[in-house]
Amino acid sequence: MSRLARQFDAVNLGQGFPDDPGPEDVRRKAADAVMTGWNQYPPMMGIPELRQAIARHYQRFHQVDLDWESEVMVTSGATEALAGALLALIEPGDEVVLFQPMYDAYLPLVRRAGGIPRFVTLRPPHWHIDEDQLRAVFNKKTRVVLLNNPLNPTGSVFPREDLDLLGRYIVGHDCVAICDEVWEHVLFDDVAHSPLLTLPALRNRAVKIGSAGKIFSLTGWKVGFVCAAPDLLRVVAKAHQYLTFTTPPNLQAAVAYGLDKDDAYFTGMRRDFQVARDRFATGLKALGLSVLPSSASYFLNVDLSKGPFANDGDTGFCTRLVEEARVASIPVSAFYAEAPVTSVVRFCFAKRFETLDEALARLTAFMQRA
Ligand SMILES: Cc1ncc(COP(=O)(O)O)c(C=O)c1O
Repeated sequence: MSRLARQFDAVNLGQGFPDDPGPEDVRRKAADAVMTGWNQYPPMMGIPELRQAIARHYQRFHQVDLDWESEVMVTSGATEALAGALLALIEPGDEVVLFQPMYDAYLPLVRRAGGIPRFVTLRPPHWHIDEDQLRAVFNKKTRVVLLNNPLNPTGSVFPREDLDLLGRYIVGHDCVAICDEVWEHVLFDDVAHSPLLTLPALRNRAVKIGSAGKIFSLTGWKVGFVCAAPDLLRVVAKAHQYLTFTTPPNLQAAVAYGLDKDDAYFTGMRRDFQVARDRFATGLKALGLSVLPSSASYFLNVDLSKGPFANDGDTGFCTRLVEEARVASIPVSAFYAEAPVTSVVRFCFAKRFETLDEALARLTAFMQRA
């Protein structure tokens, strides 16, 4: 879609990065750290300053006690954390439960680690977990469950009952949960997010993955973190040692500073994204499109199933949109490995108002012609 967006000079609401340059003080801290700080290899586990800040951060937001020395590690983005966790925790032939739609890196990484994927399919409008499907996929070979919460591409947050239900299956089948929680701070409408690690039964079975890229709207920084009980973290650290070994120390220093920012930063960031979400959602609804609820992430989804574009399917609609309206979006079926939902299209709303308004103007002209 990004290639088509360039070809047709489209407003690109496909790829998920914000227009906002990110908090100036955090960027300034990184710049200062480049000029006056340490620019050689930092410790493999991350600089102590950042590991301590991560532990403090989760104590502050989720009242979880993490020992920064044995339970916190810094990685080069959440992607490296995911790769390390999957390589470390899967033995060839182990089964891995994945929830589709899923982030694009999951399946190739699971397969590369020798894992056998077993899919639970989530469906609009609520994308909730269905126990019959859990019953069908969990078995004695299940070793790892990979959950993304809040969930990209749907912009949904699993309710506590879904997490409790999944927790019972994880404990009952003696598995480990890898929880990709990179969107944990990008939440709207006062929706709360519970890290899986905070469920008492999962405290020693959950590998929590976060990303400063999403917390500070600095997606290119690729500073991620892993929090897990010591026995789990130790094996994930072994994979990290030979994947990237370290992450730029100056960015780590800036993230350490950022994680201690006061609540006003976090509420302000949410408010700003929520205003953009509402502006774009209102525009889409005025065009008669059916907008699904979005309570997290940079994404808003449109359900085509009942409207005039039902026959196009998501891929056909996105192709028409980029070619005829010059607006790029992403078909959600691309996030499924099998039996996809083909009626949902994802738009990134984390853009300047002018960009969103231009996209809406182009969509309006397209709808009038269609
Ligand atoms: C669910 C999910 N996991 C991981 C990532 C990648 O995070 P990072 O850039 O820190 O590697 C993203 C980025 O969009 C994401 O949406």
